[in-house]
Amino acid sequence: MASKRSQTSASERQKQRLFQSAEKAMKRAHAPYSKFRVGAALLTSSGKIFSGCNVENASYGLTNCAERTAIFSAVAQLGPNMKIRAIAVTNDQGVPCSPCGACRQVIYEFGPDAMVYFQGTAGWKDSPITELLPEGFRFE
Ligand code: THU
Repeated sequence: MASKRSQTSASERQKQRLFQSAEKAMKRAHAPYSKFRVGAALLTSSGKIFSGCNVENASYGLTNCAERTAIFSAVAQLGPNMKIRAIAVTNDQGVPCSPCGACRQVIYEFGPDAMVYFQGTAGWKDSPITELLPEGFRFE
């Protein structure tokens, strides 16, 4: 039943829109050092979509991943009560690319029930963030 699953994950149509947005953002990546372009798009609990790309820096450690760019953009537009329902990640090389540890913790901050769509080592996966980040940290 579509209405039952709509709270925690995206519909097939929304998922399709997420991947389209992620691919579009991916093309705007600033990745002259790794040459690995990544795009991410998230769906909020209110049905809005925000996207982001990786933004690298000559001082390599300052790089911001696509996932965090999308999340920070959503917070900047909607404020800190913004809730992530789902987030999709793509890259321009068609290789496995799951969110890094730092991004998992940031996804968890704004979406403890979020679903993450990404290319795993054995194909595309839909994983709850709690599976990717067991025992995520939060102040309760
Ligand atoms: N990267 C992302 O943007 N997201 C991921 O999930 C994995 C890695 C970026 C960071 C860096 O610009 C490049 O990919 C290579 O690590």
